[in-house]
Amino acid sequence: MKELVRDPADDSAWTDLKSCWRIRADTTYLNHGSFGPSPIVVQEAFRRWQDALFAQPMDFLVRQFEPAWLAARGQLATFVGTAGSNLIFVENATAGMNIVADSFPLAAGDEVLLTDHEYGAVERIWRRASERTGAQSRTVVLPLPLASLEETVDAVFAATSERTRLIVVSHITSPTAVILPVAEICREARRRGIAVAIDGPHAIAQVPLSIDELGCDFYAASCHKWLSAPLGSGFLYVAPRWQALVRPPVLSWGRIPPTRIESWSDEFVWAGTRDPSAYLAIPAAIEFLEQVGLAAFRQRTHWLARYARRRLCELSDLPPITADDPAWYGSMAHVPLPPSTARGVTSEQRPDETCPISNPLQNTIWRELAIEVPIVEFRGTRYIRVSCHLYNDTAQIERLAAGLAKLLAAGH
Ligand SMILES: Cc1ncc(COP(=O)(O)O)c(C=O)c1O
Repeated sequence: MKELVRDPADDSAWTDLKSCWRIRADTTYLNHGSFGPSPIVVQEAFRRWQDALFAQPMDFLVRQFEPAWLAARGQLATFVGTAGSNLIFVENATAGMNIVADSFPLAAGDEVLLTDHEYGAVERIWRRASERTGAQSRTVVLPLPLASLEETVDAVFAATSERTRLIVVSHITSPTAVILPVAEICREARRRGIAVAIDGPHAIAQVPLSIDELGCDFYAASCHKWLSAPLGSGFLYVAPRWQALVRPPVLSWGRIPPTRIESWSDEFVWAGTRDPSAYLAIPAAIEFLEQVGLAAFRQRTHWLARYARRRLCELSDLPPITADDPAWYGSMAHVPLPPSTARGVTSEQRPDETCPISNPLQNTIWRELAIEVPIVEFRGTRYIRVSCHLYNDTAQIERLAAGLAKLLAAGH
């Protein structure tokens, strides 16, 4: 595929890319942000690695695997702006954040600070680490609407104290789809001697990323969201100053032969026998998006997200939580919805507000419109989060807007 100059606002300039995916014909998929399907070329690369593995497991695992792991890591490292020696592959951002939580030196009285926009599972990870160590995990409630980067950063640091050891912050948030000012947070945290762990699964590919420039301490991400690498592929970045402290959750041979353990990341190469194909196919996902053109990908998907935001904002007079500005959001539109007036769907009945699967309106949209799109509860208001990737178009958004208008009118 040759990189073309395509108008982000012209659906017809992007239709050829739809055939790069094989999405079920009965589904309008507007939820790449939760689980991103891989383009066919990436699936093929993944299967080629699996074929090589199953055709001769001994040769593959003992001779080919490690050079391939190192090469894939090098390519990913270039893509995210750091050295390969600072990265390890992990199955997903969750695995990466668990490694940080299990390794970070916390003691009784220390504090870990999270924002109230963090992913629910990440909050649980840090609650457990705090319970184990006698530290405290605290949440800062960010001002809403998010009016300025400065105000957001100030709110974070107003909540720190001399006991704060670590700030855990999403690069792009899950329940609110907001790009947080992580560079500014890292800069101020460095000045104060506080470490920063960035939860970044939505950011990779959706926004430009140079981890070395950010200067964070840890960065955990999944490659199976916006980058569209195979499910079960992610990475953890660890800044050189922390590398000696990071422990593998599963101790095995490390590198092959085991006598060659020379750096922290060696311990993560061989963690018992497993299929590494998802990691090894990450370069195919990078190459796919680079062929489309990363700037073009971001412009198109932001244009669609903005279109979705504007159309869905017409369904109520509730204001979104940020200005309509690419500094605040990338490929995901986040729009408030009025409360349901139908019986049996009050938010009190939802046991876990961060679990979109439990949301009745989301289920109704799927059942009645065959559209996959998450409805998320945040601070007592429900929002729709529309993910826009290269296989989406304005007709899909129009269908969602029309269908949702009817459902809301019916009290859903
Ligand atoms: C901000 C954020 N952090 C972490 C995760 C967990 O990602 P994974 O399930 O790929 O580990 C998600 C998943 O949606 C997320 O949105």
